[in-house]
Amino acid sequence: MTAAEFRVNPYESFHRLRRISPIIRSYANQGWMVTGYEQAQDVPRDSRFNNDIHWNWFFLTILRVGMGGKPIPFVDHPTLLSFDPPDHTRLRKLLSPGFVNSYIQSLAPRIEQLTDDLLEGSGDSFDLIQTIAKPLPALVIAGMLGVPVRDRALFQTWSDDLTGATILGRPDLLRKASDAETAMRSYLTNLLESKKGDQDFISILLDAHEAGDRLTHEELLGTCVLLLSAGHETTTRLIGNGLYSLLTHPEQMQLLRDVPTLLDSAVE
Ligand code: HEM
Repeated sequence: MTAAEFRVNPYESFHRLRRISPIIRSYANQGWMVTGYEQAQDVPRDSRFNNDIHWNWFFLTILRVGMGGKPIPFVDHPTLLSFDPPDHTRLRKLLSPGFVNSYIQSLAPRIEQLTDDLLEGSGDSFDLIQTIAKPLPALVIAGMLGVPVRDRALFQTWSDDLTGATILGRPDLLRKASDAETAMRSYLTNLLESKKGDQDFISILLDAHEAGDRLTHEELLGTCVLLLSAGHETTTRLIGNGLYSLLTHPEQMQLLRDVPTLLDSAVE
């Protein structure tokens, strides 16, 4: 199977791996590949595993060679994605107000309004990805973080480029991701200087940084880069793949129309 075929349908490979074992040692990166549902829940809670790639000198060396001197995105400037406890626990606690249900629910009216605005004038037939799935997450995240909406195109492009950091067989994309990370850090450094006294999410983190030892400057920047980039492509694809699944399973679409209270589990 080629990489392109895998991207179109990864599930066959996942099934095959799961049949061999739900957890497999990968010799390509000296890490673990977890495809079992229970194991995927257990491994992150098991302190015998760690998240910090700096322990994996083999993988780190391969990445370093591919980068040609540029910083390895999400590694040389670490984020929550590569922290282990106790640092992960401390940072996660600082972010938790942004992810509690009551706060997310309070965003709902604005998200509905934004969706209506984006749909206005689109008629019966429109491109879901360009009309809704791409702009909506960017607008919502900009609002949450207090990033000027007029800069949306900038951070959307950086976020798309940063996603290239997950395609490990393409050093050119890794280097592009590194450039995007550098640009984003410099944009956020300027933004942080203008934020004193604001009430948004980045300002809350900034206060924690200024209050003392709870958040270093490096952690503050890394967390802002992660927050500004993590929700774009993920949510765009959730919307696209979610609707695609419903269109290819019309009986489920009908069920959802008949029983709208199923919406929560449909989104899950
Ligand atoms: C459907 C949409 C989303 C999906 C499928 C998704 C998926 C994921 C996954 C798989 C991870 C774990 C990555 C790892 O540890 O290797 C993760 C972590 C994270 N995501 Fe998302 N994400 C989505 C939306 C968002 C949004 C909207 C935000 C913020 C605005 C966000 C912020 C984060 C953060 C901060 C982490 C790190 C959490 C931690 O380590 O404690 N994500 N996401």
